[in-house]
Amino acid sequence: MTRIIDGKVISAAVKDRVKEGVAELNKKGVTVGLAVIIVGEDPASKVYVANKKKACEALGIISEEYALPENTTEEELLALIDELNNKKSINGILCQLPLPKHLNEKLIINSILPEKDVDAFHPHNVGRIMIGDYDFVPCTPAGIMEMLAFEGIEAEGKTCVVIGRSNIVGKPMGMLLLHKNGTVTICHSRTQNLKEICKGADILVAAVGKPGFVTADMVKEGAVVIDVGIHRTENGLCGDVDFEGVKDKCSAITPVPGGVGPMTIAMLMQNTLTAAKKQNKIGD
Ligand code: GUN
Repeated sequence: MTRIIDGKVISAAVKDRVKEGVAELNKKGVTVGLAVIIVGEDPASKVYVANKKKACEALGIISEEYALPENTTEEELLALIDELNNKKSINGILCQLPLPKHLNEKLIINSILPEKDVDAFHPHNVGRIMIGDYDFVPCTPAGIMEMLAFEGIEAEGKTCVVIGRSNIVGKPMGMLLLHKNGTVTICHSRTQNLKEICKGADILVAAVGKPGFVTADMVKEGAVVIDVGIHRTENGLCGDVDFEGVKDKCSAITPVPGGVGPMTIAMLMQNTLTAAKKQNKIGD
C-alpha cells in the first residue's frame, strides 16, 4: 500500500511544537514577532499573507502586516525594512515575493538583517546552508525534510533526485539531502536523459512548475515522491506529479493539495521562533 504523506497532520504537529515554544518564551517575558510586508495587489500573495497572519495568531506570535501600494519606491521599502531591522519586538521579517517589477528584489532581500531573515533568502543564510551550519532553512525544503523525518524516511545512502534548481527550493533542497548523506542530483530544463535520471531515484522531489510533469514512467518502483508544485486547473488543484498515474508505483507520495503546501507556513512559524530564541540568547 502506498503511504500518502499527510501535510496537514505533520504541519499541525510542527505548529503544536512551535506554540509550546512560544508559550515557553512568553513565560520568560519574551514575545515572538513576525513582520510581513506585501507590496501591490497580487491576489495569490494576498492569500498567502492572510494565511501567515492567521497562523501567527493561532500560535501566539505577534504579527505585523505592512501592505504597501504598488507604486511604493525602493527608498520607502528600504526605510521600512531598516525600521523593522531595528525594532526589538520584531524577530522575523518576510517580504512577500514577487515584488513589483520596479523594485530590485535582490537589493531588498539583502537589506533584511540575516538574523531576522526567516525566509533564509539572504546570501549570508544561503551560504550557511551550503556549509551545513544554519539557523534558518527556506520554508519549502525545511517542510519537506520535516515530512521525511516524521515518516521515518532516511536520505542516508539513497539516490535523491531534485527536479528544479531555484534558489528557494531546488538548490537548498539538494543541500539538505546532501547533509543527510543522500547522493544528490539536481535536474533542470537543460538536463539530458531526465527520465532515466528520475527513474534511478529512491527519493524524487518535483519542483518543476509544470502540472503533471512527473509521470509513472519516470518513477522507480517503491520510490518516495515529493510534489512541490501547485497549479490551479479546470479540474481543481494539481501538482507537478501525475498523482493518479504515479501513486500505485511508489511507496510514499505527497498529495496536492494537503502535502507540502501546509508545511511551508508551519516552517515559517518555526523559523520565527528560532529567530526569537537566538535574538534573546535562549537555547533549546
Ligand atoms: N512568495 C511565494 N513563496 C514565498 C516565500 O516562501 N517567501 C516569500 N517571501 N515570498 C514568497
